[in-house]
Amino acid sequence: MSKPRVFLTRRILDQGQRLVQDFCRADIWPDELPPSHDEIILHVRGCDGLLCLLTDRIDPQVMDAAGTGLKVISNHAVGWDNVDVAAATARGLPVGNTPGILTDATADMSFALLLAAARRVVEGDRLVKKGGWKTWAPGYMLGADLCKTILGIVGFGRIGRAMAHRAAGFGMRIVYSDPNPADREPGVEASPVDLDTLLRESDFISLHTPLTVETRSLMNAAAFAKMKQTAVLINTSRGQVVDQSALYDALYTKRIFAAALDVTDPEPISVDSPLLQLDNCIVVPHIASASWQTRQKMSRMAAENLIAGLMGKPLPNCVNPEVYIRRK
Ligand code: DGY
Repeated sequence: MSKPRVFLTRRILDQGQRLVQDFCRADIWPDELPPSHDEIILHVRGCDGLLCLLTDRIDPQVMDAAGTGLKVISNHAVGWDNVDVAAATARGLPVGNTPGILTDATADMSFALLLAAARRVVEGDRLVKKGGWKTWAPGYMLGADLCKTILGIVGFGRIGRAMAHRAAGFGMRIVYSDPNPADREPGVEASPVDLDTLLRESDFISLHTPLTVETRSLMNAAAFAKMKQTAVLINTSRGQVVDQSALYDALYTKRIFAAALDVTDPEPISVDSPLLQLDNCIVVPHIASASWQTRQKMSRMAAENLIAGLMGKPLPNCVNPEVYIRRK
């Protein structure tokens, strides 16, 4: 029996890539930069499976270009806002993602950004390297304490909860807002509040919500106006959750103290973005899940989702399980 044909929009780490290559005839995009939408359409033609990254827009055009033989879309990410899931569901196509395994890595990075912004780590490093360190002084480069302050977590899913555990270890109090408040998180005190209360009361705000119609530009000028002037914003969710020009105004006018972003809109952010001129804004290149161990696990989970779909089995991690109900 001939092996199924799949398109991988990039090389993935070896654990997953080996699995894919053992099981499939794989066309792997060789470049460091992602294929364009047109290139995806060209490569996906006649494929049984597609393994894509969060950089790839997977819309009805891509699905239709693949043709009726396409059995599965496996997204190498926990977020799936780059895939038109409704269109996939309408075509009976299961879409896989990689939940759970990147929770700790992402919460670690969120906390690293929180500390870095609170204590001006990146700004201090830049200053030293350009020869700006003249002396020690009592009022020099002051930042914010963490202990006994309030962390507001927007989106209390797996990563938000992991963030709460880290913050509790630093003596912070935790409040959270989530439209679908889940059960209490064992081992950590966290109080549910509405978003307005969270914005007004938090010293630090960390975003852990998926990008949806409701969360797009959730952090806009009105939201920044409600925040404390000493507040710090952390975003490791999706860039579009923050209105970047409103964030710029809030930081530039010192309406809030600082921000640290792992994600931007667009990605990569333009080097000309005014945000990059601000000392009170840290930007890193969407690396919250980028640990060796986590990216191996993501590659493996993405490969396992792909292979299950090719075999006609339910995906171990499927974002639209309703496709299986529809098939019955
Ligand atoms: C994801 O998997 O959605 C993350 O953003 C990757 O870092």
